[in-house]
Amino acid sequence: MPEYVLGHHLKGEGARLALMSQLLDRMHRRHIDALDVVRPGSRTLEVGCGNGSISAWLAERVSPGGRAVAVDLDLSLIDVRALNLELRQGDIVTGAIEPGTFDLVTARAVLHHVADAEAAMRNLVASLRPGGALLLIEPDFLPVSIAEPPKVRAFWDGWLAWSRKRGIDYQIGRTLAPRLAALGLTQISGAAETAIYNGGSPWADYWTQTIRELRDDLISSGKFNNALVDTFLGYCADSNWWTQTIAFTAVHGWKPDI
Ligand SMILES: C[S@@+](CC[C@H](N)C(=O)[O-])C[C@H]1O[C@@H](n2cnc3c(N)ncnc32)[C@H](O)[C@@H]1O
Repeated sequence: MPEYVLGHHLKGEGARLALMSQLLDRMHRRHIDALDVVRPGSRTLEVGCGNGSISAWLAERVSPGGRAVAVDLDLSLIDVRALNLELRQGDIVTGAIEPGTFDLVTARAVLHHVADAEAAMRNLVASLRPGGALLLIEPDFLPVSIAEPPKVRAFWDGWLAWSRKRGIDYQIGRTLAPRLAALGLTQISGAAETAIYNGGSPWADYWTQTIRELRDDLISSGKFNNALVDTFLGYCADSNWWTQTIAFTAVHGWKPDI
């Protein structure tokens, strides 16, 4: 299995994925609905499905007669089941899933973790049927460049340095549209949205949980010290501190109908 920094074996990873569903599913569903491509009988593919919440929703939407396929490196934290939901363990870097099949292919918060994002995107496109739509939602950490106060910005500077060392691309959001164009998709369009949150909110809890899981790795990278991590966690618990972190960048495009 390829190395993935937030492996599903980490203590608390199930809770962290549940927070991701709580924070991001509504936006993801809104972008899927806007494509108007999912209806009873459709075939959908979600790659890097995490706990499977979006795939379970897709399985309902394509019913009756459709199929929702959910792929992840690790299926151990999937907590949903449906008759027309097919769960598959797989690595999107190594090949397309049923080439030329799906009306909708989607991946959220996956490609920034993938060492060969180019290959992964090629395989996502290859999984589409002609006329099908690809929807990618990935982070861009642009908002942290204006984070306040300075200690929080210092934390994020360390975070970005750590992520580069670990092969994670937290600026991938801005690259999605040109990459989809280079892969031959048409009618490419996108938007980014940024949550504004305070300490004690679900987003702050998400960061607290993520940092707890990664703390040893962050410290041993040499990009942080314990005091800086504790200072950041203190802000995450302070309801008077308001901030923004990620521009979630949703980009879609269509495979030409031949
Ligand atoms: C940050 S989680 C996001 C989960 C879910 N998409 C969400 O947004 O809530 C990334 C997921 O992608 C999966 N993943 C990472 N690399 C992958 C790959 N090469 N192929 C398939 N899945 C992968 C991980 O196992 C994990 O479940």
